Amino acid sequence: MRTRPLKVALLGCGVVGSEVARIMTTHADDLTARIGAPVELAGVAVRRPSKVREGIDPALITTDATALLKRGDIDVVIEVIGGIEPARTLITTAFENGASVVSANKALLAQDGAALHAAAEQHGLDLYYEAAVAGAIPLVRPMRESLAGDKINRVIGIVNGTTNFILDKMDSTGAGYQEALDEATALGYAEADPTADVEGYDAAAKAAILAGIAFHTRVRLDDVYREGMTEVSSADFASAKRMGCTIKLLAILERAADGASVTARVHPAMIPLTHPLASVREAYNAVFVEAEAAGRLMFYGPGAGGSPTASAVLGDLVAVCRNKLAEATGPGESAYTQLPVSAMGEVVTRYHISLDVADKPGVLAQVATTFAEHGVSIDTVRQQGRPDGVGNEASLVVVTHRAPDAALSGTVEALRKLDTVRGVASIMRVEGE
Ligand code: NDP
Ligand code: HSE
Repeated sequence: MRTRPLKVALLGCGVVGSEVARIMTTHADDLTARIGAPVELAGVAVRRPSKVREGIDPALITTDATALLKRGDIDVVIEVIGGIEPARTLITTAFENGASVVSANKALLAQDGAALHAAAEQHGLDLYYEAAVAGAIPLVRPMRESLAGDKINRVIGIVNGTTNFILDKMDSTGAGYQEALDEATALGYAEADPTADVEGYDAAAKAAILAGIAFHTRVRLDDVYREGMTEVSSADFASAKRMGCTIKLLAILERAADGASVTARVHPAMIPLTHPLASVREAYNAVFVEAEAAGRLMFYGPGAGGSPTASAVLGDLVAVCRNKLAEATGPGESAYTQLPVSAMGEVVTRYHISLDVADKPGVLAQVATTFAEHGVSIDTVRQQGRPDGVGNEASLVVVTHRAPDAALSGTVEALRKLDTVRGVASIMRVEGE
């Protein structure tokens, strides 16, 4: 057992960082035993130095993160500031000064993961980020290491706790979007500005990270097709229920059937109530990984929150410290397949389309012809008078067989031009069958 401690700089001491510091203190003996050397919190960089931080020696607090990294004795840096800058520059500075890095920063990794991995490799150091995807759930390491001998073909999951909470409330209590969002905010799940969550940016960043790992290729945030969930209505939930489905914001990553490309997307989708993801409630996350030899694996647990996320950070800290002592590094970026990311138009799935149409002879035939002209095969059609009693109008709900997204977009564009189609009330993909 080495007695000289490994020195850790903590950048950020908010929701996640404060829990990391607490666990480092309360579990110090266990961490020492598991690592083979003591770990010492050598400094904590924050923005507001005067804020009271329970359990943290005020002498460790600094607003000069760069000076902390440059003092020359830091072994590991934990970055839990978030955002692009100054996090990116600080992580680079950490590598330049000989420190390995543990980060929870999905936004930065989805944007600049390749450059950060290259910097880590150049300096012979580690970059670990289990906490960046799905909070406490071990997912990055199992995919990067445990499944390194297998071939992952598909990943489908719920990777944003805030939106799952909102959709679950809308489904189970009939609450509207705003009411459910207000409850998520009051419970501390949603941020003061929930845009990144509800517009799908947070899930898209996680999807980019997971796709890169799953398919051993580079996938950036911009490569991920993204739709938020702000347009999901109680009418959509009613339609979903009639089909034996619920609605979830899903991240879906797929290898093409010919193996020559991949797709990555985040959008709301109907999934059957019998699918295991349908029963993921509240702010929980769950991810299905389908691998050639392993079959279907499901990872489930708390995807957000200070303590769960800190658990993932601490797991990385132990791994990185062990590597330091062994004068080794863990796995770096694996992007050797260089598979291109296909456009959303090439994704093949099923669709649920709700149309407001004129209630007169020949309309159904006209609509069916439009689908046929674009090569989209209809599975079921249901027509009913408008619930709001609008005269001479009906609601037409069409569920398709699997079709390319581009073909569906073409169909919808053509439908909108029909005199008899008064409006396209909603379009939702149907997944998980
Ligand atoms: P918070 O906003 O709660 O904390 C951010 C911390 O960074 C604060 O302590 C803040 O200081 C500090 N900080 C901000 N700017 C600077 C700066 N320029 N220099 C030094 N310190 C700075 O964020 P979270 O803890 O929620 O999130 C941290 C990271 O973890 C993010 O990347 C996030 O995406 C990720 N994450 C968060 C999860 C969660 O549930 N919260 C779950 C999974 C990942 P001060 O305290 O003085 O304001
Ligand atoms: N805002 C994120 C969520 C935090 O709700 O899932 C965890 O990454």
